[in-house]
Amino acid sequence: MFPTLLIFTTLLFLSLSLSNAQKPPLFVFGDSLYDDGMTLYNGVKGAGLSTGLTAKLILKSRLVDTLTVVLSPISLVTQFAGLPFLQPYLLPGLKDYTKGINFASAGACVLVETRPQTINLKRQINYFIQMVQKLKQQVGEAQANKLLSEAVYLFNIAGNDYVTLLQKNVKKLPLSNFKRNRQMNMILGNLTIHIKTIYNQGGRKFAFQNLGPLGCMPSMKYMLAFKGTCAPEPQELAKMHNAKFAALAKRLQTNLPGFKYSIYDFYTSLYLRVIYGSRYGFRESETACCGSGSYNGDFTCQKKDQSFTVCSNPSEYLWFDAAHPTDKANQAFSKEFWSGGSNLVAPYNLQNLFAAN
Ligand SMILES: *[C@@H]1O[C@H](CO)[C@@H](O)[C@H](O)[C@H]1NC(C)=O
Repeated sequence: MFPTLLIFTTLLFLSLSLSNAQKPPLFVFGDSLYDDGMTLYNGVKGAGLSTGLTAKLILKSRLVDTLTVVLSPISLVTQFAGLPFLQPYLLPGLKDYTKGINFASAGACVLVETRPQTINLKRQINYFIQMVQKLKQQVGEAQANKLLSEAVYLFNIAGNDYVTLLQKNVKKLPLSNFKRNRQMNMILGNLTIHIKTIYNQGGRKFAFQNLGPLGCMPSMKYMLAFKGTCAPEPQELAKMHNAKFAALAKRLQTNLPGFKYSIYDFYTSLYLRVIYGSRYGFRESETACCGSGSYNGDFTCQKKDQSFTVCSNPSEYLWFDAAHPTDKANQAFSKEFWSGGSNLVAPYNLQNLFAAN
Protein backbone atom coordinates (compact mmCIF):
# COMPACT_ATOMS: atom_id res chain seq x y z
CA MET A 1 0.00 0.00 0.00
CA PHE A 2 2.68 2.47 0.99
CA PRO A 3 4.81 2.20 -2.21
CA THR A 4 1.69 2.49 -4.36
CA LEU A 5 0.74 5.61 -2.51
CA LEU A 6 4.25 6.94 -2.89
CA ILE A 7 4.29 6.27 -6.62
CA PHE A 8 0.87 7.75 -6.96
CA THR A 9 1.88 10.87 -5.03
CA THR A 10 5.04 11.21 -7.08
CA LEU A 11 3.13 10.88 -10.33
CA LEU A 12 0.52 13.32 -9.12
CA PHE A 13 3.24 15.74 -8.10
CA LEU A 14 5.01 15.37 -11.45
CA SER A 15 1.86 15.83 -13.47
CA LEU A 16 0.83 18.79 -11.35
CA SER A 17 4.20 20.49 -11.63
CA LEU A 18 4.40 19.79 -15.34
CA SER A 19 0.97 21.12 -16.07
CA ASN A 20 1.40 24.03 -13.67
CA ALA A 21 4.48 25.13 -15.54
CA GLN A 22 2.26 26.06 -18.47
CA LYS A 23 -0.62 27.70 -16.64
CA PRO A 24 -0.94 31.45 -16.93
CA PRO A 25 -1.14 33.05 -13.48
CA LEU A 26 -4.29 34.66 -12.11
CA PHE A 27 -4.25 38.00 -10.32
CA VAL A 28 -7.43 38.91 -8.48
CA PHE A 29 -8.71 42.34 -7.43
CA GLY A 30 -11.96 43.20 -5.73
CA ASP A 31 -14.12 43.19 -2.63
CA SER A 32 -15.53 40.65 -0.21
CA LEU A 33 -17.00 38.49 -2.98
CA TYR A 34 -13.43 37.55 -3.93
CA ASP A 35 -11.65 38.03 -0.57
CA ASP A 36 -9.75 34.88 0.38
CA GLY A 37 -7.92 36.22 3.40
CA MET A 38 -6.57 39.71 2.65
CA THR A 39 -8.77 41.35 5.25
CA LEU A 40 -7.90 38.73 7.80
CA TYR A 41 -4.15 39.16 7.23
CA ASN A 42 -4.63 42.91 7.34
CA GLY A 43 -5.49 42.38 10.99
CA VAL A 44 -9.26 42.62 10.92
CA LYS A 45 -10.48 40.08 13.44
CA GLY A 46 -13.46 37.94 12.65
CA ALA A 47 -13.08 38.62 8.97
CA GLY A 48 -14.64 35.30 8.09
CA LEU A 49 -16.73 36.32 5.18
CA SER A 50 -19.64 34.74 3.46
CA THR A 51 -20.14 31.43 1.73
CA GLY A 52 -21.17 28.00 2.81
CA LEU A 53 -17.85 27.08 4.33
CA THR A 54 -18.44 29.63 7.05
CA ALA A 55 -21.92 28.29 7.43
CA LYS A 56 -20.55 24.83 8.00
CA LEU A 57 -18.11 26.16 10.57
CA ILE A 58 -20.80 28.05 12.39
CA LEU A 59 -23.16 25.14 12.38
CA LYS A 60 -20.49 22.79 13.59
CA SER A 61 -18.92 24.82 16.30
CA ARG A 62 -21.30 27.63 17.09
CA LEU A 63 -18.16 29.53 17.95
CA VAL A 64 -19.07 32.63 16.07
CA ASP A 65 -16.11 34.61 17.34
CA THR A 66 -13.57 32.17 15.93
CA LEU A 67 -11.66 33.45 12.95
CA THR A 68 -12.68 31.62 9.84
CA VAL A 69 -10.88 31.76 6.54
CA VAL A 70 -13.46 31.37 3.88
CA LEU A 71 -13.18 30.38 0.26
CA SER A 72 -14.58 32.69 -2.38
CA PRO A 73 -15.68 31.67 -5.90
CA ILE A 74 -12.04 32.28 -6.84
CA SER A 75 -11.06 28.97 -5.33
CA LEU A 76 -13.32 27.25 -7.86
CA VAL A 77 -12.02 29.30 -10.77
CA THR A 78 -8.46 28.35 -9.83
CA GLN A 79 -9.46 24.69 -9.73
CA PHE A 80 -10.88 24.96 -13.24
CA ALA A 81 -7.72 26.74 -14.36
CA GLY A 82 -5.50 24.04 -12.84
CA LEU A 83 -3.96 26.53 -10.43
CA PRO A 84 -3.43 26.09 -6.70
CA PHE A 85 -5.43 28.07 -4.14
CA LEU A 86 -4.38 31.69 -4.66
CA GLN A 87 -2.63 33.15 -1.65
CA PRO A 88 -3.67 36.57 -0.40
CA TYR A 89 -0.88 39.10 -0.91
CA LEU A 90 -0.59 39.92 2.79
CA LEU A 91 -0.03 36.29 3.83
CA PRO A 92 3.22 36.30 5.83
CA GLY A 93 6.14 34.43 4.27
CA LEU A 94 4.85 34.48 0.71
CA LYS A 95 7.57 33.40 -1.73
CA ASP A 96 5.98 32.19 -4.94
CA TYR A 97 4.27 34.72 -7.18
CA THR A 98 4.25 32.68 -10.37
CA LYS A 99 0.77 31.17 -10.00
CA GLY A 100 -0.91 34.44 -9.20
CA ILE A 101 -2.00 36.31 -6.10
CA ASN A 102 -5.30 37.44 -4.63
CA PHE A 103 -5.45 41.13 -3.69
CA ALA A 104 -9.23 41.32 -3.13
CA SER A 105 -10.33 42.62 0.22
CA ALA A 106 -13.69 43.03 1.93
CA GLY A 107 -15.34 46.43 1.71
CA ALA A 108 -13.05 47.59 -1.08
CA CYS A 109 -14.21 50.44 -3.30
CA VAL A 110 -12.86 52.10 -6.44
CA LEU A 111 -13.00 55.61 -4.99
CA VAL A 112 -10.43 56.00 -2.23
CA GLU A 113 -12.42 58.26 0.05
CA THR A 114 -15.52 56.05 0.06
CA ARG A 115 -14.33 53.63 2.73
CA PRO A 116 -10.86 54.85 3.65
CA GLN A 117 -10.14 52.09 6.19
CA THR A 118 -10.39 49.28 3.63
CA ILE A 119 -7.85 47.97 1.14
CA ASN A 120 -9.37 49.87 -1.76
CA LEU A 121 -8.59 49.18 -5.39
CA LYS A 122 -5.82 51.75 -5.47
CA ARG A 123 -4.06 50.05 -2.57
CA GLN A 124 -4.55 46.68 -4.27
CA ILE A 125 -2.92 48.03 -7.43
CA ASN A 126 -0.05 49.46 -5.39
CA TYR A 127 0.46 46.03 -3.84
CA PHE A 128 0.42 44.58 -7.34
CA ILE A 129 3.19 46.95 -8.48
CA GLN A 130 5.20 45.94 -5.43
CA MET A 131 4.57 42.30 -6.28
CA VAL A 132 5.82 42.73 -9.85
CA GLN A 133 9.24 43.60 -8.40
CA LYS A 134 9.15 40.51 -6.18
CA LEU A 135 8.16 38.35 -9.13
CA LYS A 136 11.10 39.73 -11.11
CA GLN A 137 13.42 38.91 -8.21
CA GLN A 138 11.94 35.42 -8.07
CA VAL A 139 12.17 34.39 -11.72
CA GLY A 140 14.12 37.11 -13.48
CA GLU A 141 12.96 39.98 -15.66
CA ALA A 142 12.27 38.05 -18.88
CA GLN A 143 10.30 35.22 -17.31
CA ALA A 144 8.37 37.68 -15.14
CA ASN A 145 7.39 39.72 -18.19
CA LYS A 146 6.24 36.58 -19.95
CA LEU A 147 4.09 35.56 -16.98
CA LEU A 148 2.63 39.07 -16.65
CA SER A 149 1.60 39.15 -20.30
CA GLU A 150 0.05 35.67 -20.19
CA ALA A 151 -1.72 36.26 -16.86
CA VAL A 152 -5.43 36.81 -16.37
CA TYR A 153 -6.43 39.84 -14.28
CA LEU A 154 -9.79 39.27 -12.65
CA PHE A 155 -11.92 42.04 -11.11
CA ASN A 156 -15.03 42.34 -9.02
CA ILE A 157 -15.30 45.91 -7.79
CA ALA A 158 -17.52 49.03 -7.50
CA GLY A 159 -20.53 47.45 -5.78
CA ASN A 160 -19.47 48.98 -2.46
CA ASP A 161 -19.07 52.40 -4.09
CA TYR A 162 -22.77 52.38 -4.96
CA VAL A 163 -23.88 50.82 -1.69
CA THR A 164 -22.14 53.65 0.16
CA LEU A 165 -23.57 56.27 -2.19
CA LEU A 166 -27.08 54.98 -1.50
CA GLN A 167 -26.41 54.76 2.22
CA LYS A 168 -25.42 58.42 2.29
CA ASN A 169 -28.51 59.42 0.35
CA VAL A 170 -31.02 57.09 1.92
CA LYS A 171 -33.47 59.92 2.54
CA LYS A 172 -32.93 61.52 -0.88
CA LEU A 173 -33.80 58.75 -3.33
CA PRO A 174 -34.05 58.50 -6.25
CA LEU A 175 -30.79 60.28 -7.00
CA SER A 176 -30.76 62.95 -9.65
CA ASN A 177 -29.31 61.96 -12.99
CA PHE A 178 -26.61 64.55 -12.44
CA LYS A 179 -25.52 62.87 -9.21
CA ARG A 180 -25.66 59.39 -10.71
CA ASN A 181 -23.57 60.35 -13.71
CA ARG A 182 -21.02 62.32 -11.74
CA GLN A 183 -20.39 59.39 -9.41
CA MET A 184 -20.37 56.84 -12.21
CA ASN A 185 -17.90 58.82 -14.29
CA MET A 186 -15.53 59.10 -11.34
CA ILE A 187 -15.76 55.39 -10.62
CA LEU A 188 -15.24 54.42 -14.26
CA GLY A 189 -12.51 57.04 -14.70
CA ASN A 190 -10.52 55.64 -11.80
CA LEU A 191 -11.16 52.06 -12.84
CA THR A 192 -9.74 52.95 -16.27
CA ILE A 193 -6.57 54.34 -14.67
CA HIS A 194 -6.05 51.11 -12.70
CA ILE A 195 -6.66 48.88 -15.72
CA LYS A 196 -4.15 50.92 -17.71
CA THR A 197 -1.60 50.62 -14.90
CA ILE A 198 -1.80 46.85 -15.19
CA TYR A 199 -1.69 47.07 -18.98
CA ASN A 200 1.48 49.16 -18.69
CA GLN A 201 3.01 46.40 -16.56
CA GLY A 202 2.37 44.03 -19.45
CA GLY A 203 -1.12 42.75 -18.58
CA ARG A 204 -3.28 41.91 -21.60
CA LYS A 205 -6.07 39.58 -20.45
CA PHE A 206 -8.73 41.12 -18.25
CA ALA A 207 -11.86 39.57 -16.79
CA PHE A 208 -14.67 41.42 -15.06
CA GLN A 209 -17.66 40.25 -13.09
CA ASN A 210 -20.22 42.97 -13.61
CA LEU A 211 -22.27 44.48 -10.79
CA GLY A 212 -24.89 42.19 -9.38
CA PRO A 213 -28.53 43.24 -8.91
CA LEU A 214 -27.75 45.50 -5.94
CA GLY A 215 -31.41 46.13 -5.21
CA CYS A 216 -32.12 42.45 -4.53
CA MET A 217 -29.44 42.13 -1.85
CA PRO A 218 -31.00 41.53 1.57
CA SER A 219 -28.69 44.23 3.01
CA MET A 220 -29.96 46.79 0.53
CA LYS A 221 -33.62 46.00 1.18
CA TYR A 222 -32.98 46.23 4.91
CA MET A 223 -31.13 49.53 4.55
CA LEU A 224 -33.82 51.09 2.38
CA ALA A 225 -36.63 49.50 4.43
CA PHE A 226 -37.88 48.14 1.11
CA LYS A 227 -40.50 45.41 1.01
CA GLY A 228 -40.48 43.46 -2.25
CA THR A 229 -38.14 41.49 -4.45
CA CYS A 230 -35.66 44.14 -5.62
CA ALA A 231 -35.44 47.84 -4.75
CA PRO A 232 -35.56 49.97 -7.93
CA GLU A 233 -32.92 52.68 -7.36
CA PRO A 234 -29.97 50.34 -6.70
CA GLN A 235 -31.11 48.19 -9.63
CA GLU A 236 -31.06 51.24 -11.87
CA LEU A 237 -27.55 52.21 -10.74
CA ALA A 238 -26.20 48.71 -11.29
CA LYS A 239 -27.72 48.50 -14.77
CA MET A 240 -26.38 51.93 -15.76
CA HIS A 241 -22.92 51.12 -14.45
CA ASN A 242 -22.86 47.78 -16.25
CA ALA A 243 -23.90 49.33 -19.56
CA LYS A 244 -21.28 52.07 -19.27
CA PHE A 245 -18.64 49.60 -18.22
CA ALA A 246 -19.34 47.33 -21.20
CA ALA A 247 -18.86 50.32 -23.51
CA LEU A 248 -15.67 51.27 -21.69
CA ALA A 249 -14.20 47.76 -22.07
CA LYS A 250 -14.94 47.89 -25.78
CA ARG A 251 -13.16 51.24 -26.07
CA LEU A 252 -10.14 49.89 -24.20
CA GLN A 253 -9.99 46.97 -26.61
CA THR A 254 -9.97 49.42 -29.51
CA ASN A 255 -7.37 51.73 -27.97
CA LEU A 256 -4.97 49.32 -26.30
CA PRO A 257 -3.24 46.87 -28.66
CA GLY A 258 -3.56 43.26 -27.49
CA PHE A 259 -6.15 44.07 -24.81
CA LYS A 260 -8.55 41.14 -24.42
CA TYR A 261 -11.41 40.89 -22.01
CA SER A 262 -14.24 38.92 -20.58
CA ILE A 263 -17.34 40.31 -18.89
CA TYR A 264 -19.44 37.92 -16.86
CA ASP A 265 -23.06 39.07 -16.64
CA PHE A 266 -23.37 38.41 -12.93
CA TYR A 267 -26.29 40.84 -12.80
CA THR A 268 -28.52 38.67 -14.97
CA SER A 269 -27.33 35.40 -13.54
CA LEU A 270 -28.01 36.39 -9.94
CA TYR A 271 -31.21 38.24 -10.80
CA LEU A 272 -32.69 35.15 -12.49
CA ARG A 273 -31.92 33.13 -9.37
CA VAL A 274 -33.61 35.74 -7.18
CA ILE A 275 -36.83 35.79 -9.17
CA TYR A 276 -36.93 32.13 -10.22
CA GLY A 277 -35.20 30.63 -7.16
CA SER A 278 -36.90 27.24 -7.22
CA ARG A 279 -36.05 26.69 -10.88
CA TYR A 280 -32.39 26.88 -9.89
CA GLY A 281 -32.81 24.74 -6.79
CA PHE A 282 -33.11 27.48 -4.18
CA ARG A 283 -36.08 27.16 -1.85
CA GLU A 284 -35.36 30.64 -0.47
CA SER A 285 -33.94 33.32 -2.75
CA GLU A 286 -34.85 36.55 -0.94
CA THR A 287 -34.05 36.05 2.74
CA ALA A 288 -30.47 35.28 3.75
CA CYS A 289 -29.52 32.15 5.63
CA CYS A 290 -27.67 34.06 8.32
CA GLY A 291 -28.43 37.44 9.89
CA SER A 292 -31.25 39.34 11.52
CA GLY A 293 -33.88 41.93 10.63
CA SER A 294 -36.05 41.93 7.53
CA TYR A 295 -34.76 39.46 4.93
CA ASN A 296 -31.91 38.82 7.42
CA GLY A 297 -30.53 41.94 5.80
CA ASP A 298 -28.92 43.32 8.94
CA PHE A 299 -25.21 42.43 8.86
CA THR A 300 -25.13 40.64 12.19
CA CYS A 301 -24.16 37.22 10.84
CA GLN A 302 -21.11 35.89 12.68
CA LYS A 303 -20.74 39.09 14.67
CA LYS A 304 -19.78 38.74 18.28
CA ASP A 305 -22.28 40.06 20.82
CA GLN A 306 -25.03 40.29 18.21
CA SER A 307 -28.03 38.09 18.02
CA PHE A 308 -28.79 36.48 14.68
CA THR A 309 -30.14 33.28 13.27
CA VAL A 310 -28.49 30.75 10.94
CA CYS A 311 -30.50 28.44 8.71
CA SER A 312 -29.96 24.72 9.07
CA ASN A 313 -29.47 24.01 5.37
CA PRO A 314 -27.53 26.78 3.55
CA SER A 315 -27.76 24.95 0.23
CA GLU A 316 -31.48 25.75 0.05
CA TYR A 317 -30.62 29.44 0.17
CA LEU A 318 -29.36 31.78 -2.51
CA TRP A 319 -27.96 34.30 -0.02
CA PHE A 320 -25.69 33.17 2.76
CA ASP A 321 -25.68 36.51 4.54
CA ALA A 322 -26.98 39.98 3.81
CA ALA A 323 -24.76 40.50 0.76
CA HIS A 324 -23.04 37.23 -0.15
CA PRO A 325 -24.38 34.21 -2.03
CA THR A 326 -24.03 30.70 -0.61
CA ASP A 327 -21.42 28.19 -1.73
CA LYS A 328 -24.02 26.48 -3.86
CA ALA A 329 -24.74 29.71 -5.74
CA ASN A 330 -21.04 30.54 -6.02
CA GLN A 331 -20.41 27.18 -7.62
CA ALA A 332 -22.92 27.96 -10.33
CA PHE A 333 -21.46 31.44 -10.91
CA SER A 334 -17.88 30.19 -11.16
CA LYS A 335 -18.93 27.54 -13.63
CA GLU A 336 -20.73 30.08 -15.80
CA PHE A 337 -17.83 32.53 -15.69
CA TRP A 338 -15.41 29.75 -16.60
CA SER A 339 -17.19 28.09 -19.48
CA GLY A 340 -20.55 29.83 -19.97
CA GLY A 341 -21.95 30.76 -23.38
CA SER A 342 -21.74 34.21 -24.91
CA ASN A 343 -25.17 35.14 -23.56
CA LEU A 344 -23.61 35.11 -20.07
CA VAL A 345 -19.92 35.82 -20.56
CA ALA A 346 -18.38 37.63 -23.52
CA PRO A 347 -16.46 38.26 -25.72
CA TYR A 348 -14.35 35.53 -24.04
CA ASN A 349 -15.28 33.20 -21.21
CA LEU A 350 -12.53 32.65 -18.65
CA GLN A 351 -11.50 29.33 -20.11
CA ASN A 352 -10.93 30.87 -23.55
CA LEU A 353 -9.29 33.93 -22.05
CA PHE A 354 -6.77 31.74 -20.22
CA ALA A 355 -6.06 29.89 -23.45
CA ALA A 356 -5.86 33.02 -25.64
CA ASN A 357 -2.48 34.20 -26.93
C1 LIG B 1 -10.86 59.51 -9.44
O1 LIG B 1 -11.55 59.69 -8.24
C2 LIG B 1 -11.36 60.94 -7.62
C3 LIG B 1 -12.13 60.90 -6.35
O2 LIG B 1 -11.62 59.85 -5.55
C4 LIG B 1 -11.84 62.05 -8.53
O3 LIG B 1 -11.60 63.31 -7.94
C5 LIG B 1 -11.12 61.95 -9.85
O4 LIG B 1 -11.64 62.91 -10.76
C6 LIG B 1 -11.29 60.57 -10.45
N1 LIG B 1 -10.48 60.45 -11.66
C7 LIG B 1 -11.01 60.24 -12.86
C8 LIG B 1 -10.04 60.14 -13.99
O5 LIG B 1 -12.19 60.12 -13.04
